Amino acid sequence: MKSEKRKLINARQKEFYDTKQKNAATRLWSYFRNGALNRIKKDTGVERDIYELHKSWFGDLSQKKVLDLGCYAGNSLSSYLAQNSKEYLGIDLSPKGINNLSRRLEKVPGARAEVMDFLSEEFREKDFDLIYAYGVLHHFKDVDELIAKLEEKLSKNGSIVSHDPLQTSLPIKFIRTIYRPFQSDKAWEWPFSKKTYYQFAKGFVVKERRAVLGKAKWSAFISFLPVSEEKRIQKAKAWHRDDWENSLNSDKAMFDCMHLSLFMQKKSH
Ligand SMILES: C[S@@+](CC[C@H](N)C(=O)[O-])C[C@H]1O[C@@H](n2cnc3c(N)ncnc32)[C@H](O)[C@@H]1O
Repeated sequence: MKSEKRKLINARQKEFYDTKQKNAATRLWSYFRNGALNRIKKDTGVERDIYELHKSWFGDLSQKKVLDLGCYAGNSLSSYLAQNSKEYLGIDLSPKGINNLSRRLEKVPGARAEVMDFLSEEFREKDFDLIYAYGVLHHFKDVDELIAKLEEKLSKNGSIVSHDPLQTSLPIKFIRTIYRPFQSDKAWEWPFSKKTYYQFAKGFVVKERRAVLGKAKWSAFISFLPVSEEKRIQKAKAWHRDDWENSLNSDKAMFDCMHLSLFMQKKSH
């Protein structure tokens, strides 16, 4: 993408995250996501499972130089990374997010946060042993350009831990297609397609993957049936287990899901 066009999109994205101003359609989608989906996540323990999985993928951080890409003000694992790694750098487009995180990092040795565009020439740091990108890789339209930049920034054998939305399940693709023309953040929201996944799988070694909210997303509809709360939660948990286990090896099970976590390693050339 031409750098002028990217600067424009980045400026709008920065504004979006700094002000959190959303139009009616985007607020409706957030309502669905924060309502029905968050309820399933809470019932099934999806979030806890993802964070524990990511921690296990990080491994021993004591000798690692870590990039928290698109950190905004930092999520639950940002502090963990900052406190346990040899060196931690968080970067984001948003000054508001970075100021917030910088204040929290003041007393953490070897940790800092900077306003920076990952793709820009000004970003000169490299040799990262780990790049953590939670909810970030799907913000780049040109996946080949992103893969090349990630590769350039990783140390030899360096790895990436990512988490992103998928648009591969038919009902989700349908809802997203209807919603897209009205979406406030459509210029920088590119949920993974099958093609995106295979681009990453070609560019890196996928060491492990897990996806969530495949069968489990349907548990939202059990609320409309005459089923007890206990039974609904039991079913949601069982479906989440199936998604978690099956997405490891079955592409079909993975593509039926709504979110994907990837543990990737730089290829040795
Ligand atoms: C969905 S938010 C995720 C924030 C954070 N990782 C978390 O888990 O809460 C995506 C973030 O990616 C950042 N971002 C998008 N493109 C970027 C780029 N080119 N360079 C740096 N940050 C970027 C955005 O500013 C935004 O804060």
